[in-house]
Amino acid sequence: MSIDIRAHLPSDTSAATNRAVTEVVQGMQGSQILAIATAVRAMQAEGKQVCNLTVGDFKPTEFPVPERLVEGIQSAVAAGQTNYPPSDGLPVLRQAIADFYKRDLGLDYGPESVVVCSGARPVLYGTWRLFTNPGDKTVSFLPAWNVGYYAHLNQTDHHFIRTSPETNFFPTVEQVKEVLPNTRLMVINSPLNPTGTVIDPAVLQGIAQAIVDENNARGDAPPCMLMWDAVYWQLTKDSHPYKSPVQLVPEVAPYVIHIDAISKAFAATGLRVGWAVMPPYLQPKMKALIGHMGAWAARPEQLATAALLNDAESIETYNRWMKGAIDARLDTLYDGISAMKAKGLPVDAIAPQGAIYLSFRVKLEGKTNEDIRALLLNEAGMAVVPFQAFDLNEDSGWFRISIGAVGAEEIAPMLKRLEATITKAVGA
Ligand SMILES: Cc1ncc(COP(=O)(O)O)c(C=O)c1O
Repeated sequence: MSIDIRAHLPSDTSAATNRAVTEVVQGMQGSQILAIATAVRAMQAEGKQVCNLTVGDFKPTEFPVPERLVEGIQSAVAAGQTNYPPSDGLPVLRQAIADFYKRDLGLDYGPESVVVCSGARPVLYGTWRLFTNPGDKTVSFLPAWNVGYYAHLNQTDHHFIRTSPETNFFPTVEQVKEVLPNTRLMVINSPLNPTGTVIDPAVLQGIAQAIVDENNARGDAPPCMLMWDAVYWQLTKDSHPYKSPVQLVPEVAPYVIHIDAISKAFAATGLRVGWAVMPPYLQPKMKALIGHMGAWAARPEQLATAALLNDAESIETYNRWMKGAIDARLDTLYDGISAMKAKGLPVDAIAPQGAIYLSFRVKLEGKTNEDIRALLLNEAGMAVVPFQAFDLNEDSGWFRISIGAVGAEEIAPMLKRLEATITKAVGA
């Protein structure tokens, strides 16, 4: 006989939840992007034609992971590689990551600077835990992915600084200088989710130098750390080559935590291998934190990732293919939207520069972003995410397009539906 647990549970679940959990957890929000994606899947299940441009993920049939990863995982499991890895990652993987950074970026950090974990998120959260106390000043720029959730969880005095399309949604050096005093943690992500833009190296250099100057002036007071979220760094257009702030201003190295993963560059979001490359004087603290969280990556995935990263030729081939597949989608979307703009329709987009995203704007008189999102979904079968989901809480007309889950052939018919929808909305 089994015990029916439901008979013993409170009937008013939300009141019971709020009584049980902390205030911080009560205030936690779920992902708005995932909520929209769930609604889209429900429409698809009803047989409606929807081009799903919402999730920052990949459809494995469109973007399979490199063969080498699959083989490496399978053979590691078969060989009995199934016990705990060290909490900062297998030495062979930490060495492979250090070699990869030296080979591709000219940054000689050494394996003692690397902490491996299950995707980028644990080191991202770990960075907040390492450097912030509740009430500390933290800074990020709008729009950006998920920073608000982490600021809330860590109860910091968070400053969101608004950027503009004219600067590709990145801050200016002046904005950074203004907000730097007393800041403990600054978060910058490039290539940027949700905009698909890449920070201008001259601006990044100015920002890195400003952080060095600020920290020199602080003396013994805690420094400002820079969380440099570069999970999309391998996915830039050739016209916008990636630069780390440490390449541009080596003196900033003591303050920079690089956040990286196989999730996006190798379409391997579900395999959960990420890492931080950071100053070695801080590495043991991150290692301890990841160990206590138990957020290490699975051992077979670590071994397979090490083999992949050591194989420069495989990476090069895969990267060329992947960028071609991304371009085939983003460029078609950008060209289609630009053609509509040229016809006088109230749409706009920023030419793609990196990652798997496109900034897309629709301006319709008297319509909120939510009105427009619903119109695009219901009339054009085009599912996109408003910038409100990236903490830009205004009806700016800006949306994120993400191409990882769509086939290239879905885009042209969707653009036709979009043009018809906008033409009708303007005429109405
Ligand atoms: C900018 C950025 N950083 C970090 C992550 C997290 O990556 P992971 O899935 O490896 O945790 C994402 C995922 O969407 C992202 O867009």
